[in-house]
Amino acid sequence: MGKGKKVAIIGAGNVGATIAYALAMRGSCHRIVLRDRDTEIAKGKALDMSQAANAARQHTVVTVAEEASGLAGSDVVVITAGSPRRPGMSRDDLLMINAEITKEVIADVKEHAPNSIIIMVSNPLDVMTYIALKESGFPRKRVIGMAGILDSARMAHFIHEKIGYGSGQIRASVMGGHGDEMVPLPKFSTVAGVPLSDILSEDEILEIVERTKHGGAEIVGYLKTGSAYYAPAKSTAIMVEAILQDTKQIHPCAVLLEGEYGHHDVVSGVPIVMGSGGAEKIFEVTLNESQKKKFAQSVQSVRKMIDTLHEKNFFGKE
Ligand code: NAI
Ligand code: 2OP
Repeated sequence: MGKGKKVAIIGAGNVGATIAYALAMRGSCHRIVLRDRDTEIAKGKALDMSQAANAARQHTVVTVAEEASGLAGSDVVVITAGSPRRPGMSRDDLLMINAEITKEVIADVKEHAPNSIIIMVSNPLDVMTYIALKESGFPRKRVIGMAGILDSARMAHFIHEKIGYGSGQIRASVMGGHGDEMVPLPKFSTVAGVPLSDILSEDEILEIVERTKHGGAEIVGYLKTGSAYYAPAKSTAIMVEAILQDTKQIHPCAVLLEGEYGHHDVVSGVPIVMGSGGAEKIFEVTLNESQKKKFAQSVQSVRKMIDTLHEKNFFGKE
């Protein structure tokens, strides 16, 4: 499994460290390097995780990249550097803080790991993925945002909570951006192939859709000083493994749209085939008029943030 592979994780906070731990416990790669502006904390976590890998009889060694040159040779670079969402703060509030951080870390990735595949996690996710694309100059298949797997997992969990059976058999579908306008698609959701609409009433489905849209905020409400990290980390680890193991499985992820669904030069969540090449194929699912409208609204909210960045001359001389 992923022999000789190296994964770099920039941002060793709650999400980054938990991704590293998930990968190390499964021996998904040989080397993980953590990079964080707080090097001491990263060192402590790396040491702890390398010891955990030994306890688990896994070969993964976790170290710290004190210099950006430590990113060299990475097959996958995961970026979780940034500020988490605090209670009362929307994902969009994080825009400018995280945009600058993303720009800075992407410059390092471009210089030291030019052949890597970037997985963006920092919020607002779709816009950070867009920045990573523009600042790296990498082809769109090598810059992929994590959100759809998480949002679908949340929806699947809420479905299970409601029906009380089918655990592990629920396939929930969420497209669009990772924001309040995300597009849960109950019509594409099933329990072992049984359509959700044959299991639950319209009102029950609507309740699940609304809870999914606010799934992140619900957890922030409990944690108070930070946001979710177990499900985000597992969802990211699935993407890393899909690349390292060349699984060629379909996952919902954020990618640059170049005409798909009628949208250009904007990032949104759509089903893709993931493999060693990154986003190897992008699917254009047939949506009905209502779904198309919701998807367009979601894309528009991402585009608004990209416009704000342009207004602030974020991308340099324009
Ligand atoms: P955290 O605060 O625990 O970790 C962030 C880490 O980034 C900190 O350790 C910090 O020192 C580091 N950092 C900040 N600037 C840096 C820089 N320039 N270089 C290197 N490291 C730097 O936050 P958490 O909970 O891990 O969340 C990380 C990000 O992921 C947030 O933006 C959060 O909103 C986002 N997120 C996205 C999800 C998604 O579905 N896409 C799900 C969950 C979180
Ligand atoms: C979440 O959905 C904060 O985006 C993060 O949990």
